[in-house]
Amino acid sequence: MSMITTATRMYLTRSFKPFTFTPDDGRRKIDLAAVEKPGLYVHIPFCRTLCNFCPYCKVFYDSDLYSRYIDALKTEIDLVSAEISIPKEVSSLYFGGGSPALAADRLGEIIRHLQKYYRITEGIGVELHPQDVNTDTLQKLKAAGVTRISIGIQSFQKHFLDLLGRSVIDIQEMKKVLSSTEFETISMDFIFALPGQKATDLKLDIQRAFDCGANHTAIYPFIDFSFTSTPLKEMRKNEKRHLLD
Ligand SMILES: C[S@@+](CC[C@H](N)C(=O)[O-])C[C@H]1O[C@@H](n2cnc3c(N)ncnc32)[C@H](O)[C@@H]1O
Ligand code: SF4
Repeated sequence: MSMITTATRMYLTRSFKPFTFTPDDGRRKIDLAAVEKPGLYVHIPFCRTLCNFCPYCKVFYDSDLYSRYIDALKTEIDLVSAEISIPKEVSSLYFGGGSPALAADRLGEIIRHLQKYYRITEGIGVELHPQDVNTDTLQKLKAAGVTRISIGIQSFQKHFLDLLGRSVIDIQEMKKVLSSTEFETISMDFIFALPGQKATDLKLDIQRAFDCGANHTAIYPFIDFSFTSTPLKEMRKNEKRHLLD
């Protein structure tokens, strides 16, 4: 382990103890009773297109694989929660991906299954790809009990979407669709520090997000994960910092 990694570990953990890695045969149980008000995260790994910059666990959507995954997920919830006798209080439930809105038809079923074991006190969130922002999907999410949606916009500007290999977003259509169904939080994700991006580009994107119906934004610096196939290179740290001034 390098000196820098060791020093960072000591700084972050405030401890001289090295990390220890224990073998996991897949049967290790999370001691849920020991965690006060945890948050639940459910991963839905399906996407219609796979983006070359994306580090998350994902596969192409296939209807048969998708139904088998949701069935297996319910079994997994039973296994993980087997020792819970009275519903355990959890802060929130978040469906990430992948593009979990592709499972809109069965999210209600998964939520009801989780509610046998957990009492969710602070809302339910779902990530959406812009292609999934349509009235039918939003109404299904709302009916399932979703209170927060988070849309992966990345940028509203064609130039930066082209760099990421993503399609242009019809802002007026998105605004119309978002006004059709009410959620406590409508968040939009942006990737910043793309090649050639300036602070004014980011400001314009954030302004458009609020004009379009968002009441929250999340901004992620572009990371070139070494295991992805993106040809894009990260901006230097001082340039990134300058963008946020
Ligand atoms: C699972 S994805 C979002 C949901 C949906 N699948 C989509 O693409 O719109 C979560 C977010 O991670 C961010 N992200 C993905 N790859 C990234 C990267 N290489 N660097 C920085 N942020 C990234 C994007 O903002 C993306 O919206
Ligand atoms: S960015 Fe979103 S749509 Fe693209 S591969 Fe990742 S999870 Fe799928």
